[in-house]
Amino acid sequence: MSELLAENSSVELPPGRVLAIESSCDETAAAIVENGRIIHSNLVASQASLHAQYGGVFPEVASRQHIRTIFTIIDQSLKKAHVSLSDLDAIAVTRGPGLPGSLVVGMNAAKGLAIASGLPLIGVNHLEAHLYSAWLYEAGTPPKSEVEFPLLALIVSGGHTELVFMEDHSKYRSLGSTLDDAAGEAFDKVARLLNLEYPGGPSIQKAAEEGDVEAFDFPRAWLEGSSNFSFSGLKTAVLREVQKIKSSRKPLPVSDIAASFQKAVVDVLVGKTIQAAEAWNARHIVVAGGVSANRCLRQEFQYRSKLPLHIPSLDFCTDNAAMVAAAGYQRFARGQRDDIAMDVLPNWPISEL
Ligand code: KG4
Ligand code: ZN
Repeated sequence: MSELLAENSSVELPPGRVLAIESSCDETAAAIVENGRIIHSNLVASQASLHAQYGGVFPEVASRQHIRTIFTIIDQSLKKAHVSLSDLDAIAVTRGPGLPGSLVVGMNAAKGLAIASGLPLIGVNHLEAHLYSAWLYEAGTPPKSEVEFPLLALIVSGGHTELVFMEDHSKYRSLGSTLDDAAGEAFDKVARLLNLEYPGGPSIQKAAEEGDVEAFDFPRAWLEGSSNFSFSGLKTAVLREVQKIKSSRKPLPVSDIAASFQKAVVDVLVGKTIQAAEAWNARHIVVAGGVSANRCLRQEFQYRSKLPLHIPSLDFCTDNAAMVAAAGYQRFARGQRDDIAMDVLPNWPISEL
């Protein structure tokens, strides 16, 4: 990867319009974003209904569906933004982490377009992209409030739960991550135990609306003195409760279990993020990734955070390409150019950036 030319946030960056492509999991997405912030188009073709029958993402089905959809989504994103390739400055694409077969589809599409147009190609880390969703807003709407450094970021998705201290653009220190299941994965697995539809996060949130958060006293793994997380004990506690209730032939109190489980996850995520933000003297907090769409999590953060808080609009929480364009623009404007022979990186930690 090339040296970054300018790493400091005070450096004025040149304007730039980026086409971004995202295909790391089960969403095929393309977007056109200006200056890393202003969204001109942001299209997502979700495969969720295809994978629902498997209760989770089926990798081979995902990559083949990306192949079918990707060029239509790219074409539509260009049309919606009223631009052609010649109006753009760079092409950004998710390089990892993610499912190898899915990443390859987006990468090859991006390479084809880069070769045809002569535009520079920028490989983007998916976790960094989630973080940059905090900078985004739709063209024609008022700009979002400025995000200030140093900041403490919680990235919570289906594959990751990470606490990151961000000193400046592109400068990350990974403080902790999950030792077992990611928060979103815990939502998905518990949803399956409760016979709720995939993806589990939205299903649990919906079921929890009618439930009592105190109906079950599920464990919270605080892991004192560490910024790591663990959700497997909580998942096992839910499994035991479900088995106990089923063996007693009583009806499963799905809403109460969902509400108590959701509150246990939220308590730990919010508590540990606020604690770390204080310990690291962060000025702002950013919460991003699919699980940041959770209403209970958003409310709890708003209620408890004393620092300015940035949680993306719902459309930018789950996987999308606008966030890839936002991160890609930062890299492009600071001088990154990737080789046309770059490979995907299915296990690419943010600590390696
Ligand atoms: O960021 P994302 O779209 O994909 C990954 O990079 O993993 O996150 C997907 C995850 C899934 O586990 C899904 O259940 C969870 O985000 N999720 C939610 C909500 N919406 C999506 N979890 C809790 N509450 C939600 N409302
Ligand atoms: Zn994601």
